[in-house]
Amino acid sequence: MVNSGKGLENVYIDQSSICYIDGFGGKLYYRGYSIEELAEMSSFEEVTFLLWYGELPTKKELEEFSKELARSRKLPEELLDLLYRIPKTAHPMGALRTAVSFLGNLNGEPSATPEDVFRKGISVTAKIPVIVATLYRIKNGLDPIEPSTKLSHAANFLYMLHGEKPPKEWEKAMDVALILYAEHEINASTLTVMTVGSTLSDYYSAIVAGIGALKGPLHGGAVEGAIRQFMEIGSPEKVEEWFFNALKEKRRIMGAGHRVYKTYDPRAKVFKKYARLLGDKTLYEIAERLERLVLEHLGKKGVSINVDYWSGIVFHAMGIPIELYTTIFAMGRIAGWTAHLAEYISHNRLIRPRLQYVGEIGKKYVPVEMR
Ligand SMILES: CC(C)(COP(=O)(O)OP(=O)(O)OC[C@H]1O[C@@H](n2cnc3c(N)ncnc32)[C@H](O)[C@@H]1OP(=O)(O)O)[C@@H](O)C(=O)NCCC(=O)NCCS
Repeated sequence: MVNSGKGLENVYIDQSSICYIDGFGGKLYYRGYSIEELAEMSSFEEVTFLLWYGELPTKKELEEFSKELARSRKLPEELLDLLYRIPKTAHPMGALRTAVSFLGNLNGEPSATPEDVFRKGISVTAKIPVIVATLYRIKNGLDPIEPSTKLSHAANFLYMLHGEKPPKEWEKAMDVALILYAEHEINASTLTVMTVGSTLSDYYSAIVAGIGALKGPLHGGAVEGAIRQFMEIGSPEKVEEWFFNALKEKRRIMGAGHRVYKTYDPRAKVFKKYARLLGDKTLYEIAERLERLVLEHLGKKGVSINVDYWSGIVFHAMGIPIELYTTIFAMGRIAGWTAHLAEYISHNRLIRPRLQYVGEIGKKYVPVEMR
């Protein structure tokens, strides 16, 4: 290979002041603030402001920003009609992709300035949880619920999903989840968003592409894979046999391994705390036993526990169906996608790497009837 590692491993494509990951030390900072402190003390609204504008908001700025997000929740009627027509068999990430793409057709002029990106970012960030909750209710034959302008971003999602205001501890856990998922440097979906943005295409096209990238099981889709694997194992006594069979079959343990972290993902530590607090006891025990085996047998390869390992147990505790878990990741990550898009286009250069050609050249064309 020329220059770079496969999969762009360790390739730096630009400079950024949004997020720092210490993959060996297991540390993560958004704009210089540690993830542990933000998860404990901040809110998704505040973290989004921080990621976009570079500083924590004043009280007044936070109030205005939160109000604007809340005011932007309502879906256009045309989109509501469309949500009824998306096949009930669609995965919610596919349905979300369609919905955001449709929004782009209502409001998709090119985004050439960071201000324009942030203006659209507020609208889409506000609407993603509303779209997801509405899709869920339509699919289950329930009437969609109007968004509230009084509730926080996290509480409004749970309210629209379940039809009642969530208990405080659920609101906090959802808020923490959105903070933990909000940003993570140049992962596969953020690179995708930046690549589309670098062509000077519009904001919605970039975000739709990001949703597509996030959906895959090696990226955001792992959150669904992780909890399904705990359910497949079924009971704590079966963990060991399942694990060694998985190794024999060369199956990947979902929620384990990371391109950048070679030690325990700091976000997973926070999720683990909430899983212990709120989660189903059997699932927690299965996950904990499997975690011990992963660390013992795969740790020497640098495989540890990532953000998607424990989060599903937290969402499951709030009565959320598994197929929605990746959309919760998207609800958080829209903040990081938007921040990076704005940062990148403010000093834009088309993203266009190379592939090292290893095929033949100079072959003679043979007409089809002679082959
Ligand atoms: C995230 C992921 C794609 C990163 O992959 P990567 O950086 O390309 O790592 P590699 O595929 O090169 O793996 C390196 C080694 O660790 C092993 N490995 C990595 N992740 C593993 C996992 N989840 N389970 C078992 N083995 C794993 C590989 O088999 C490989 O072993 P080998 O050298 O003996 O062949 C990978 O860890 C993975 O598939 N994880 C499961 C999906 C997941 O949880 N994704 C969410 C990420 S936040």
